[in-house]
Amino acid sequence: MTEMIDPFGRNVSYLRVSVTDRCDFRCVYCMSEDMTFLPKKEILSLEELDRLCSAFVEMGVKKLRMTGGEPLVRRNIMWLFQRLGRHLESGALEELTLTTNGSQLSRFAEELHACGVRRINVSLDTLNPDKFKAITRWGKYDKVMEGLQAAKNAGLQVKINAVALKGVNDDELDHMVDWCGGEGFDLTFIEVMPMGDIGGETRLDQYLPLSMVRARLQEKWTLDEIDYKTGGPARYVKVRETGGRIGFITPMTHNFCESCNRVRLTCTGTLYMCLGQEDAADLRAPLRESDDDGPLHAAIAEAISRKPKGHDFIIDRRHKGPAVSRHMSVTGG
Ligand code: GTP
Ligand code: 5AD
Ligand code: SF4
Repeated sequence: MTEMIDPFGRNVSYLRVSVTDRCDFRCVYCMSEDMTFLPKKEILSLEELDRLCSAFVEMGVKKLRMTGGEPLVRRNIMWLFQRLGRHLESGALEELTLTTNGSQLSRFAEELHACGVRRINVSLDTLNPDKFKAITRWGKYDKVMEGLQAAKNAGLQVKINAVALKGVNDDELDHMVDWCGGEGFDLTFIEVMPMGDIGGETRLDQYLPLSMVRARLQEKWTLDEIDYKTGGPARYVKVRETGGRIGFITPMTHNFCESCNRVRLTCTGTLYMCLGQEDAADLRAPLRESDDDGPLHAAIAEAISRKPKGHDFIIDRRHKGPAVSRHMSVTGG
């Protein structure tokens, strides 16, 4: 069995692939409204993405997550899911999945299931349509609700991702717990990370440590510790009253880098070894240099040997700019 072990003894078994930097939303913490996107010629073809992902699977990746931007706005993206499904069938891959804003799910949920996808993550920070509009700017709330029902009907397990935003969605935490519990959706809360210049607004003003979210939830719900693991960074509890699971993703207050198992590939073939660091490796050149996978495997191994210990995100009220200059949409979280 092949494995990729980094210099800190961590097994890199999870690849997140941003298949496009484009998105049909403009979430305030992720993008500015006037984003400049990559020219099409810079972007790897779906065939090239398949070859790259497959190289990672050969080298020991067990979990593949497509992200964006919004992965489902990339033209013909189902072709890639279908192709990658062969690694599930062979047993080389344990999970093929995606993180989506949900806007295209009513169209794609059944096809995703047919490709072997079983569990999806959907970004939804609020259940209030007006707030949804304010956060996503271009998002259509009803489309996302329709998409979630389509996902459920198609037999996909759903996890809702909610970035905790002070003064924005902190008055509806209980409602979200209640609603997700009723729908049978897992729910993860996420601390906002300082990535990319997002214009005038500052994320610091909206930053809410999840210890506060948890304390507030505990006023109403009984949260039982559980040993539920997905391979992602969330730590889960079970809500006794609803039977639902809640996860906490705490990059700012409780660093989980020690158990990091993932790297991130962009749609131009750049590999980021850490979400919170600028260091990266170019995989497009070795991919295009030869039809033989040798140089590509060597470049991947070299990149893994440079995986840093962790991120440098800090909460610093004197420094209002982003800790990392690239936007979240480059690597899809
Ligand atoms: P599961 O497979 O369900 O565990 O998914 P996941 O949490 O790995 O993926 P998802 O795309 O739902 O990510 C949720 C949030 O966790 C996003 O905001 C990501 O940016 C954040 N996240 C995931 N991995 C890392 C990481 O390595 N470092 C940091 N700082 N944040 C991460
Ligand atoms: N901080 C934390 N999470 C973010 N996401 C996007 N931008 C940020 C940020 N600055 C989340 C999205 C999505 C996930 C992939 O990343 O809400 O659920
Ligand atoms: Fe699009 Fe997701 Fe970024 Fe929102 S957070 S703009 S849905 S990529």
